[in-house]
Amino acid sequence: MQDAMNISTRKVKPEGMKVITECRMCHKKNLHSFLSLGPIPLSNSFLSKDQLSKPEPYYPLDVHFCSDCGLVQLGQVIDPELMFKDYAYLTGTSSPMKTHFTSLAKRVTKKFNTPKGSLIVDIGSNDGTLLDCFKTLDMKVLGIEPATNVAKLAMSRGIETLDSWFSKELAQNICSVRGKPRVILATNVFAHVHDIDGFIRGIINLMDSDSVFIIEVPYLIDMLDKVEFDTIYHEHLSYISLRPLVTFFKEFGMDIIDVERIDVHGGSLRVYVQKDSASSSSTVKQLLELEIKTKLDSIETYRRFATSVGRIKAELTSLLNDLKGRGARISGYGAPAKGNILLNFCQIGTEILDYVSDTTPFKQGRYTPGMHIPIYPENHFHKSPPDYALLLAWNYLDDILRKEDGYRKTGGKFIVPIPKPQIV
Ligand code: TYD
Repeated sequence: MQDAMNISTRKVKPEGMKVITECRMCHKKNLHSFLSLGPIPLSNSFLSKDQLSKPEPYYPLDVHFCSDCGLVQLGQVIDPELMFKDYAYLTGTSSPMKTHFTSLAKRVTKKFNTPKGSLIVDIGSNDGTLLDCFKTLDMKVLGIEPATNVAKLAMSRGIETLDSWFSKELAQNICSVRGKPRVILATNVFAHVHDIDGFIRGIINLMDSDSVFIIEVPYLIDMLDKVEFDTIYHEHLSYISLRPLVTFFKEFGMDIIDVERIDVHGGSLRVYVQKDSASSSSTVKQLLELEIKTKLDSIETYRRFATSVGRIKAELTSLLNDLKGRGARISGYGAPAKGNILLNFCQIGTEILDYVSDTTPFKQGRYTPGMHIPIYPENHFHKSPPDYALLLAWNYLDDILRKEDGYRKTGGKFIVPIPKPQIV
C-alpha cells in the first residue's frame, strides 16, 4: 500500500542511533530478539508540508527479551535530543488524561496523607497538566521537562518548570534550594530512559524516608494480552513487568510498597516506591504470581505475541482494502504516536485514508511520519464524516465512542484495530 514518493525518500539513518548488546536493567548479555517492526520513522516526527519532499530518517525497531532479569526492551537507542527536544505530545489535549491525573493527585495525597504546602516534583512534566491537579490541592509544585516548547507552555500557565533533563546534579540542586519533595512522579517517563541506573541515583538524591516515588508505565501483560504492538516505538525503550522492577529497585535500597493496575494507555502499572521500607502490599505478591502464570519468563510467550502481530497486519489490511474496493470513505481518528507505528508497519497510506483528525494543534496542518497522511482538526471530521474511521487512538475507545455518538447514529462506523480488527 505504499506510494512511490514514500519509497524514494525512505532512508535508514544510523546517525544518532546506538545498538544495545546488554540489558539496560541487569547488564547481562542474554538478549533474545522476537519482533522487528522497522525500519520505521520516529513516531512523533510529524512533518510540515516542505519536509514531505526531503529524505526522512528511518530506524530499525527491534524488540528483545532478557532471559536473565525478564526485561523486554528495544535493541536500539535513539539520541533523546532527536526525539524529545521539540515534542508533539501534549497531555492537556486529551480530556481523559486530565480526568486520570485529577484522580491520581487526589489518590496520592489521600493515601500518603500529604500535608498542604508539600513539594511535589514531576519528571517529564509535559504541559503541567498533572502538577496543576496537585496545585489545586494546595501543594507546591515543580516540573522538569526537557522539551523546550512544552516546558514553555507549562510555564505560561503558571506551573514552575525547569527546562532540563533529569540528572543526579539537578536533583541535588533542587534539594539544596527547596528541600526534599514529599512526592516524586514519573508518569510515562521511566520506560523512556536508557540510563536507568543514573536516573534512579538522581531519584535517591531527591528522597528522604517520607518521600514516595511513583511511576506509571504501560504494563507488559496488557500489551501482550491485547496485542498492543503499536505501543512499541523508539521512545519506549523498556516494556515493564513487576518482577524485573522489584529486583532492580532492591539493588538501590528501594522497595516497591504497592502497585495498582490502571486503565490508561491500554493498561498500565502505577508503582509506589520508598527507601528501605519494610512492608509491601499483597497486590505486589499477587501480581508477581500472575506474571509467573502468564509465563512472562519464557521466550515462547513473546514469539506467540509476534505471530499475533503478523495476523493483525494481514486482517486489518485485508479489511481496509475490501472496504475501499467497495467505495467506502475512510479516515483515521487521532494521530497518536502509536498510530504512526500501526500505519507504517501495515503500510496504510493516503490511498486508504483520506485524512487523519486530531485535537492537538501542533499536529494539525502537518503530515504523519512515513505515510504522509494530512492531519486536520477534529471539526474536519464532523464536517466531512467518513463512512469508516480507523481508531488510531484506541486507548480512548470508550470516551471516543461516547463523544462521537452522533457520528455513529448517522451511520458512521469505527474500525478498532486491536486486539483483533473489528468494526463497531
Ligand atoms: P495518546 O494515545 O495519548 O498517546 P501516544 O501518542 O503516546 O500514542 O494520543 C492520543 C492522540 O489522540 C492525541 O494526539 C490526541 C488525540 N485525540 C483525539 O484526536 N481525539 C480524542 O477524542 C482523544 C481522546 C485524543
